[in-house]
Amino acid sequence: MKLVEVKNVKKYFPVQKGFIDQILSRKQTYVRAVDDVSFYVKKGEVLGLAGESGSGKTTMGRLCVRLIAPTEGQILFDGKDIAPLKGEELRLMKRRFQFTFQDPTSSLNPRLSIGEAVGDALKLQGIGDKDEQAFRSREVLERVGLSPAESFYDRLPHQLSGGQKQRVVFGRAIILNPEFVVTDEPVAMVDVSIKAQILELMMDLKKELDLTYLFISHDLATSRYVCDHIAIMYLGRIIEIADRDQIYEDPLHPYSQGLMSAIPIPDPKAQKAAAIPQGEIPSPIDPPSGCRFHPRCPKAFDRCPKEDPELKNAGNGRVVACHLY
Ligand SMILES: Nc1ncnc2c1ncn2[C@@H]1O[C@H](COP(=O)(O)OP(=O)(O)O)[C@@H](O)[C@H]1O
Ligand SMILES: [Mg+2]
Repeated sequence: MKLVEVKNVKKYFPVQKGFIDQILSRKQTYVRAVDDVSFYVKKGEVLGLAGESGSGKTTMGRLCVRLIAPTEGQILFDGKDIAPLKGEELRLMKRRFQFTFQDPTSSLNPRLSIGEAVGDALKLQGIGDKDEQAFRSREVLERVGLSPAESFYDRLPHQLSGGQKQRVVFGRAIILNPEFVVTDEPVAMVDVSIKAQILELMMDLKKELDLTYLFISHDLATSRYVCDHIAIMYLGRIIEIADRDQIYEDPLHPYSQGLMSAIPIPDPKAQKAAAIPQGEIPSPIDPPSGCRFHPRCPKAFDRCPKEDPELKNAGNGRVVACHLY
């Protein structure tokens, strides 16, 4: 069953016009952060969203849980389009999904105790009275490994380690019993030594609470550990979606191939030459013609700058947007 399905979603951010643009009344330009993206996440699965910085992963994640509204397209949650929802209807719907921000330090209010921070969502949603909220908050602290809850409840964020803060962030995300969690680079800011613990917590919560995840990460070594499928983004587009093992062992798109060969390998002698990135990512304000990857693609041919490749079925349930297939 498809829990989340995104159909032809676009998010264009208007670019602030400069003074000269204004007096010459030049046309408004846009950052095409997400530009016609479609995919789905089945219930109980972890879909990884990967790609270099600036490819639109965070924007796509924020759209999925309606922190922002799309410029165009549908976002189906459990069959219902949440793209046009507003006000009370949207607030109630938001109990069913959550988003964890990349930086746990800036996503926690420095003056709010850990217990209050975790219970905050109950307060905002008007669930239970003060005592019930505090009780539930303690329960959740225990569940995310901040135990005994009593000794954490009144602490302030600055009194916790990076890993503990990340646990608080997950506590906040699960307190409303959501069905779907978008987690944006959950281990990018924590120490290497505790990365595995945080990922383990994530997967334990998934099992216990029957969660579905969209796991955003630019770090493909981490994604391999937790994801069932991986979608690769480039400049506002998804260019390939495949099973985890397929994409790591046999990537089809030249961009995916480059990303995979750039993953660090523990044995330095086995380190392959990084095939990515030749040159900078072009601007999403004015993306290249045809295939957006063609200026950097080692396999580009005459068709690539002319025609924009569609995301097509490449067999075995995988899809790829490339003229080679
Ligand atoms: N609120 C915003 N206003 C304008 N541009 C934005 C905004 N958010 C993101 N962008 C732009 O959209 C593109 C994609 O950003 P983002 O979704 O953060 O990518 P990623 O998470 O893959 O690094 C970038 O060029 C970024 O500068
Ligand atoms: Mg991001």
